Amino acid sequence: MTSTAQRSIEAVPTLPELLAGPERDRHAEQLTVPFSHVALSKRSFLRAAWTLHHHGVLVLRQAVEPERLQAINTEVDQLLDGIERSESPDLNCNAILNLPDKRSIKGYDNFVDAERAVINYRVKRADGRSGSDAGMVDIFHPERLNDTMATLVESCLHERLIARLLLAASWRPFQVKCRNLYVNRGVQDTRGYHCDGRSQKFKSFVFLTDVSELNDGPYCYVPTTHRDKRAWRRSRNFNKLNGCNRHEYTQLQGYRALPMLARAGDMVISSQRGAHRGHPQHPEARRSVLVNMYQR
Ligand SMILES: [Fe+2]
Repeated sequence: MTSTAQRSIEAVPTLPELLAGPERDRHAEQLTVPFSHVALSKRSFLRAAWTLHHHGVLVLRQAVEPERLQAINTEVDQLLDGIERSESPDLNCNAILNLPDKRSIKGYDNFVDAERAVINYRVKRADGRSGSDAGMVDIFHPERLNDTMATLVESCLHERLIARLLLAASWRPFQVKCRNLYVNRGVQDTRGYHCDGRSQKFKSFVFLTDVSELNDGPYCYVPTTHRDKRAWRRSRNFNKLNGCNRHEYTQLQGYRALPMLARAGDMVISSQRGAHRGHPQHPEARRSVLVNMYQR
């Protein structure tokens, strides 16, 4: 954080500097550990836990083999192709379908509590506000689609190891709350920097496709904001004065955000109390990611 960030609240929302080039690479390198080292070496495991504790974000390189990635991408492509080619798709799997113009189920809590997978096509918000992720396909409980997906999702998420890592990083036990699979194709109306509430929770993101540049819509994170009370207070005060959602990070001048560029198979883990967002994509871009939410 620079001294600029310590000044009084700005009159308008402010953004962090988005790191790029060699500087981005240098910062990313500090947050990166090969997955195989974390799985096999206690020293690497403890280094990874400390990194997550200190920075709020961690990259585990090559957590999933290419064959599994290809298998899961093929399953998802076939599923979405079948839905999008037909006027009245006949789902050959255990799922509830929410199309843009035909909603079967409403509300985040109902998606999380559903006993089947929910294939939810995101649409523009009814109140017209930005941050809708319109165009994104958000599949809740992808492991419930069929037996093949159950096996693939389980093998990609490494839940026992990640839960142990979160315990070592935060000294608290965490459990899986919900699994999702996001398919973003040219999604531009992404939400700005925010936190997912103030209670402690983590997400792991397994990238199923390469995210090589900003056009691909990388996950962006502002390291150390998960434990920076001053950063949060400044945004909270601005939000109160300006009628903004209380979980938006609206005052980030002087901070630096890291676009989490990744190869398919890499896993990013972050504390969702820190400032984060998905960067808007190029209209032709595609990004698929398997997400696991851990909470207490
Ligand atoms: Fe979020």
